[in-house]
Amino acid sequence: MRLALFGAGGFIGSHLVEHLLDRGHEVIGLDREGDKIAHVNSDRFTFHGADIRTSQDLADDMVAESDVVVDLLAHANPSLYVEMPLEVVDLNFYENLRIAEQCIAHGRRLIQYSSCEVYGKPVAGETSWHEDLSPMVYGPIDKHRWIYASAKQLLERILRVRYDAGELNFSTIRPFNFIGPRLDYLVPAGTVGGPRVFAHFMSALLSGGPMYLVNGGDVSRTFTSIYDANEAFHAILDNPEAAAGEAFNIGNPANHIPIRELALIMIRLYGELTGRTPLCEIQTQPGEEFYGPTYEDSDRLPPNISKLEALGWSPSRDLESTLRETMRFYLESEKPDLFQPVAAPPFA
Ligand code: UGA
Repeated sequence: MRLALFGAGGFIGSHLVEHLLDRGHEVIGLDREGDKIAHVNSDRFTFHGADIRTSQDLADDMVAESDVVVDLLAHANPSLYVEMPLEVVDLNFYENLRIAEQCIAHGRRLIQYSSCEVYGKPVAGETSWHEDLSPMVYGPIDKHRWIYASAKQLLERILRVRYDAGELNFSTIRPFNFIGPRLDYLVPAGTVGGPRVFAHFMSALLSGGPMYLVNGGDVSRTFTSIYDANEAFHAILDNPEAAAGEAFNIGNPANHIPIRELALIMIRLYGELTGRTPLCEIQTQPGEEFYGPTYEDSDRLPPNISKLEALGWSPSRDLESTLRETMRFYLESEKPDLFQPVAAPPFA
């Protein structure tokens, strides 16, 4: 099968490229950066280093030439939602919508990556998030943090309307905090904003700088191995009829922990992996200072994964082994040029 992968150079995209090639597929990828896939060498992989916003004809050709289109294009770091909310909507909504329109025009199946963030905040009495049953509750309009979830949700709703009209065959994926090698990027000691939490904690361990717990680290996340996530993707790819028009949570409910606990586990694992005592110190920081005044943090619930289990998938990688292999990646590639100034990361 030939797949077009928009956002092939990001963390999830780079793993999906490897996974799809391993399974014998042909992949045409597009991203504005290709560092994370520079090691991929296959005559079944074509990569276009291009910015989607100025490459609409190329994108249209990619869709036309493919059997299935996978759209991962997104700014997915909360610091960007508050720093450049309109750019987030531009990429995560308008550009994604354009790709969906191209899929409609060429009659192609679309697998759209969305986010667990579309659920927003938990409501009283809920214990997990179900794709088709859970409400979606967001914060006030002046908290730009929610513009990302709003854009993703509207995109999901439009895809569903076009599906119901018989115009588009699609499935949506809602990732729950995937982790693995090549996740995000490291930052210098004391950086605020920037990448997601794993990369911040790893940077603090490597640099000896402070490890910030935003608002005390009491909120929880479901950390999910990128390798489990790839297998879940394949269950969706391989079941086009059962997956048509459906949204799917991809997450490992067994790996649901508070951020404070993540910090403590990573500190312990760093000691075990290196034999060194970490120099970094845990400090609490208000969300408004770490990200800015328009940030609002939120707790999350674990995913209900019964829909994907019905397609034959279940996660098998536990939290500690997933963290260990992700941390080992950074320990083995430890070098000064990994510490970049805070900058917009590649898409997805
Ligand atoms: C982000 C995206 O917004 C989601 O769309 C995406 O699904 C998710 O990442 C993901 O990786 O799947 P979020 O989980 O809030 O959502 O991203 P993080 O930046 O990793 O934040 C997780 C928690 O850690 C937040 O409570 C944040 O305030 C906290 N944090 C972050 C710290 O306590 N310290 C830090 O140094 C960084």
